[in-house]
Amino acid sequence: MRRASITEIACYTPPRVLTNADFEKIVDTSDAWIRERTGIVERHVVDPGTATSDLAYEACKKVLEQRGLRPSEIEAMIVATVTPDTLFPATACLLQDKLGMKGTWGFDLSAGCSGFLYALITGAQFIASGVHKKVLVVGSDVMSSIIDYADRKTCVIFGDGAGAFLLEPSDSGDVGILDFLHEIDGSGGPFLQMPAGGSRMPPSLETVQKKLHYVHQDGPQVFKYAVRKMFEISKAILDRNSLTVADIDVFIPHQANRRIIEATAERLGLCCDKVLINIDRYGNTTAATLPLATADAIRQGKLKKGGLVLYVAVGAGYTAGAALVRWAF
Ligand code: COA
Repeated sequence: MRRASITEIACYTPPRVLTNADFEKIVDTSDAWIRERTGIVERHVVDPGTATSDLAYEACKKVLEQRGLRPSEIEAMIVATVTPDTLFPATACLLQDKLGMKGTWGFDLSAGCSGFLYALITGAQFIASGVHKKVLVVGSDVMSSIIDYADRKTCVIFGDGAGAFLLEPSDSGDVGILDFLHEIDGSGGPFLQMPAGGSRMPPSLETVQKKLHYVHQDGPQVFKYAVRKMFEISKAILDRNSLTVADIDVFIPHQANRRIIEATAERLGLCCDKVLINIDRYGNTTAATLPLATADAIRQGKLKKGGLVLYVAVGAGYTAGAALVRWAF
């Protein structure tokens, strides 16, 4: 078994920015409330007509260019998203066609805000088993397409974005994806969901009028689960690898709320210069938060070759996951 390494990364956010001041004009909210309760200052959103595969395309194109690869060299691609362009065909198929990736295969993966982490670990298995040598892992979401911009409890939180990692076999034994720990708990489903549009409640005039095609969230319930689970799963993966927070160079958590991240870091005993927070600029971009945060960790010099990263995420489902990665470049 060869370890999978992350050998290239790129991200894309649409140019249009919505600031907290913009939301003050749309709903009964304030810049002070949003900053204090979420840590968010601004978020990127698409213009009408732009879909998840369009954002993903930009990120994947950059990965290929940066690594000097032809699209046909990618053997498999996994797209994590909760906002596919269409229920079917899969966004992976649309992306494959746009990128001109001849001879590849791929699929979409739905795991809420843990989607990117689940896709990363799934892609890593194809490398570790020797089946593939080049796998693209993509996280892309157009959250603005499922947000009710009249609901102040949800509309201020989310943003749009995409990111992609290239996975290849590791050159050296101690570099790459070292371990992962994932779990799901479906009893949390009702607390964060889009109720209609699937087979349980197909779209109808009534579902549209009742706004059931938007994100519905019990914020405080999700908040409590996230703080508890992010800590538990981070601690568990460190313990089973005989590591402590002192061994971690950078902690990259899913960006859902600054207070969730800070509470988790504090419980873990992580000092703040090891914790990557960029929710202020992007909001919660669901499947794109981890690549966007990784790109910032590299830019800020927090993540260098040989550095040890602890990724952690929680999301709708509930889904949760953590991964330890020794950085390869
Ligand atoms: N502006 C101003 N007031 C707002 C507001 C906004 N944008 N959104 C909610 N409020 C109000 C509520 O109406 C409520 O008022 P009330 O007491 O008069 O009823 C009050 O603020 C407190 O609401 P509450 O929902 O308890 O706030 P909170 O401190 O829990 O913050 C979230 C709300 C959504 C920011 C927070 O619960 C959260 O981040 N939850 C986790 C979300 C998450 O992680 N989701 C994705 C998971 S991957």
